Amino acid sequence: MLMLMPSASPAYLTWLASAWDGRGLVLILTGAGVSAESGIPTFRGEEGYWRIGSRNYFPEELATRAAFERMPDHIWGWYLYRRSVCRAAEPNTAHRAIAQLEQRLTAAGRAEQFLLVTQNVDGLHLRAGNSLERTYQIHGNIDYMRPFHDRDARIFPLPQALGETWERGQPIGAAERALLVAPSDGSPARPHVLWFDEAYDEERFRFESTLRAIERATLVIVVGTSGSTNLPTQVVTRAFRRGIPFVVINREPSPFSELAERAEHGHYIEAAAGETLPSLLDAVAAASDHERT
Ligand code: OAD
Repeated sequence: MLMLMPSASPAYLTWLASAWDGRGLVLILTGAGVSAESGIPTFRGEEGYWRIGSRNYFPEELATRAAFERMPDHIWGWYLYRRSVCRAAEPNTAHRAIAQLEQRLTAAGRAEQFLLVTQNVDGLHLRAGNSLERTYQIHGNIDYMRPFHDRDARIFPLPQALGETWERGQPIGAAERALLVAPSDGSPARPHVLWFDEAYDEERFRFESTLRAIERATLVIVVGTSGSTNLPTQVVTRAFRRGIPFVVINREPSPFSELAERAEHGHYIEAAAGETLPSLLDAVAAASDHERT
C-alpha cells in the first residue's frame, strides 16, 4: 500500500534546532554567490576578466588604488559597466528571504537581533528591503563615489546625468570626467569600494563594528563567499574559535565550509543560496518567536 509520509526536515533544520535557542544576534555574512542567481557574475568566476588595450586584466589587478592612479578613465569605465549590470539585475529569492527576516524581527520589536554584513557592492540587499542601518556594506557600494584624496569619508550617489547603462569598453569622455567629481570640493572622485591595496576602516566600511558584532553573535550564517578576504575570514574564524554556531551555504567547498565541517557547532549546506535560505531563515524567525512566547 502506498503511504503518504510527510517529507523529512532537511538536515540543516535539525541542526539549527539543536544548535540555536532563538536568542541573541543573528549575523548573516554574504558574498557574490548570493547575487549569482540575479545574473551578476561572481568575482572569481570566468567572466571576471577585463580587456584594456591588448591586455586582459583580472579583477585583482584592476580593483586597486594603483591601477586607478595609472588609468582612472579605464577603471571608471570598468566600474560603470559593472554598475550597469547591477542596476539591470533584480533581487532574487535569497535577497528577499534575508530582507524578510529583518522585517519580521523588526515588526516583532527585535530589530537588534539582526545584522547583515555583505561584501557585495551591488546594492541588491538594500533594494530587496534590508535597512541601511543593519546592512554593513564592508566593501562599499557601486552606486556611490567619494573624493579620491581620501581626506573626506563622505560618499555621494553617482550623478543621475551619467545614466544607468554603460557598454563594455565605452570610453569615458570629457562630459563624464566633469561629472565624476566630488560635490563637496570638486576634486576627482573614485568609486566607493574597497580596493585590494587598501585597508578596511570603520568610517567607510564598518570594520570595528563588524568585529564587535561577532562578539555578540549567537548564530552566524555565511552565504555564497569563497572566503578570500580579510574581514569575512576574521568573522568566520572567530565564530569557529568561540564556539558560536555557524552554518555555511555555498555551491562548492571553500575554506569556510571546511571550517564548518570541522567544528562541532558548525554545519555546511552544499547548495544554492536561493534553494536554502527561505526555509532556513523561516526557521530562524520561528525559533526567535518561540523564544518570546
Ligand atoms: P567569489 O566570486 O570569490 O566567490 C563566490 C562564491 O559563491 C564561490 O565560492 C561560489 O562557489 C559561490 N556561489 C556561486 N553561486 C552560488 C549560489 N547560487 N549560491 C551559493 N553560493 C554560490 O566572491 P566573494 O567571496 O564575495 O572584494 O568575493 C569576496 C570579495 O573578493 C569581493 O567582495 C571582492 C573580491 O575581492 C573587493 O573587491 C574588496
